[in-house]
Amino acid sequence: MGKIIAIVNQKGGVGKTTTAVNLAAFIGKKRKKVLLIDLDPQGNATSGLGIDKGQLENTTYDMLVNDIPVTDVIVESSAANVDMVPTNINLAGAEVELVSAMSREQILKNAIKDVVDDYDYIFVDCPPSLGLLTINALTACEFVIVPIQGEYYALEGLTQLIDTINIVKKKLNPNISIGGVVLTMFNMRTQLSKQVKEEVEEYFGKKVFKTLVPRNVRLAEAPSYGLSIYDYDKNSKGSKAYETLAGEVIRRIK
Ligand SMILES: Nc1ncnc2c1ncn2[C@@H]1O[C@H](COP(=O)(O)OP(=O)(O)OP(=O)(O)O)[C@@H](O)[C@H]1O
Ligand SMILES: [Mg+2]
Repeated sequence: MGKIIAIVNQKGGVGKTTTAVNLAAFIGKKRKKVLLIDLDPQGNATSGLGIDKGQLENTTYDMLVNDIPVTDVIVESSAANVDMVPTNINLAGAEVELVSAMSREQILKNAIKDVVDDYDYIFVDCPPSLGLLTINALTACEFVIVPIQGEYYALEGLTQLIDTINIVKKKLNPNISIGGVVLTMFNMRTQLSKQVKEEVEEYFGKKVFKTLVPRNVRLAEAPSYGLSIYDYDKNSKGSKAYETLAGEVIRRIK
């Protein structure tokens, strides 16, 4: 059965999508079958792997709200061995429309169960909120990866995230655990990054991945070409970092 990993942090712009896309790409490159589910109405993972948001026949929205089978939604991405459940802005409506649905927290879990065995890893890129879409991801997953931006004090928001994970564990998904915490946009030379690292390590201990993802402009450029960092510039520092991180993820979650 595929390992389902949600990439979660309710803070915006911390590197969730960059991490989801590039972990998926590097794990796909290791000949694992990967599915990336774009659960953010912004659709940045979708466009970031070369899928035209304007040309989609079916989307995550259709799967969650209109009961379209996941197999009719899945498309190939630009990355080797990475399939995608793509999204566009329609998904913004789901947050409200699903509130009155039966078992509203379990809709994603039920929607993907027919394909869980077809993949080795399934990543879910979450929106920057702890709303119903993110709760669906937390209910469907076995592991959570939390990206934390190395340039900001982030721990206040994180206690809210941990509380939410604990509530989900108690009420909806006893199998959930934190698979790891990754420091992103890390700048070795600043005192702030060092302090954030110390704080995060104190709080999360061994959960913190050894790999530090540096701030690297190539990582920010790649999505506008619809390519993973490996396909865009495999020799960049950002590419090396996500390759190492993917190795850590596979060793930890297998
Ligand atoms: N290590 C990095 N170095 C340089 N730029 C980065 C890095 N990681 C992410 N970025 C850029 O920072 C911005 C935010 O990153 P990203 O979209 O991955 O964050 P996010 O948490 O998914 O944001 P949102 O909460 O809006 O979904 C993007 O423009 C991205 O290209
Ligand atoms: Mg994102």
